[in-house]
Amino acid sequence: MNILSILYKIKSLNELGLIKDETKNLNKKILKLSKQKNISYNLNGNKQKISKELLINELEQILQTKTIERTRYYLNRLIKSLEVQKEGKINDLNLNRWKEYNDILTDSLWLFDKRDTSGVHKADYWGNFIPQIPNQLLRRYTKRGEWVLDPFLGSGTTLIECKRLGRNGVGIELNKEVCKKAESTLHKENNPFKVTTKILTGNSARIDFKTELKNLKQKSFQFMIMHPPYWDIIKFSNQKDDLSNANSVSEFVNLFGKIAENMYPFLDKGRYCAVVIGDKYSTGEWIPLGFYVMQEMINRGFKLKSTIVKNFDQTTAKRNQKELWRYRALAGGFYIFKHEYIFLFKK
Ligand SMILES: C[S@@+](CC[C@H](N)C(=O)[O-])C[C@H]1O[C@@H](n2cnc3c(N)ncnc32)[C@H](O)[C@@H]1O
Repeated sequence: MNILSILYKIKSLNELGLIKDETKNLNKKILKLSKQKNISYNLNGNKQKISKELLINELEQILQTKTIERTRYYLNRLIKSLEVQKEGKINDLNLNRWKEYNDILTDSLWLFDKRDTSGVHKADYWGNFIPQIPNQLLRRYTKRGEWVLDPFLGSGTTLIECKRLGRNGVGIELNKEVCKKAESTLHKENNPFKVTTKILTGNSARIDFKTELKNLKQKSFQFMIMHPPYWDIIKFSNQKDDLSNANSVSEFVNLFGKIAENMYPFLDKGRYCAVVIGDKYSTGEWIPLGFYVMQEMINRGFKLKSTIVKNFDQTTAKRNQKELWRYRALAGGFYIFKHEYIFLFKK
């Protein structure tokens, strides 16, 4: 079935009744293709796809119209969405087909009930983020073949997602052993788009990005994602450059700022950087690490575009002590952490 030629034929009809009859026939035919999730069609000799659900919704909207002008408007819109790719500058999403991307989040509250554990993704690195975070961000803020930087690589979640989505990625991690493990995990992930992923061992505040990029025949990155230690909540190593070993909150923020400063020149103008971070509670006080770090990014020249609140699953240890924590919260006048932040900045 060639949907486009049928739609053009419907559009050429002059009577509303006839247009509706033909649209109804087309809708019936599509509904009969029960097993198919997507409908294929031909566009200038190339095979394209549209989601069956979306196509049916659009046809039903046409069937509900009362005037021929409105009917033609919806018909034209559907034809355009099948024929014209409307791409933005920072991703591969076709804005003429935006209704198809219902799994791409656009609200500032992110609630995930479970972690993606598919393929080589594992939850075994204490302090790693769920793969859905880089997955969402890479699809919204990068195009296929672009370059991504993660200066706090940890177990390599971002680079695994880069491989899956066809983005090139550079990850930096201070801890040599952690790098080795990330390298071997990453190696097991397929590379269907033949992208480059590179892991560097070192302090992200001191990495010579110019040289490293030159080695990769690049000049800059198109997206950066930072997931620093939440100060000393988890001690990642004994190294003094490790942000989790900062002696005070101001030292922590300052070390973080140095990394942001080192990276800033290598992000293309108009492109985005995300920071994923949670707060800390210590000696009877809520320490807003998230807001301190957000302010530090602004001080270093980044423009804040969004603040996302994401639900946060408690560690197993805390979960086992749920009752105790509830008592402590009630007695101590505070709330138990259930969220963390994703700040989005634009250069
Ligand atoms: C919160 S974890 C990142 C986890 C990562 N997103 C993942 O999914 O596995 C922070 C990481 O930053 C590393 N780190 C701390 N200070 C660093 C520095 N100055 N330069 C590079 N890496 C650093 C730690 O060793 C740790 O692995």
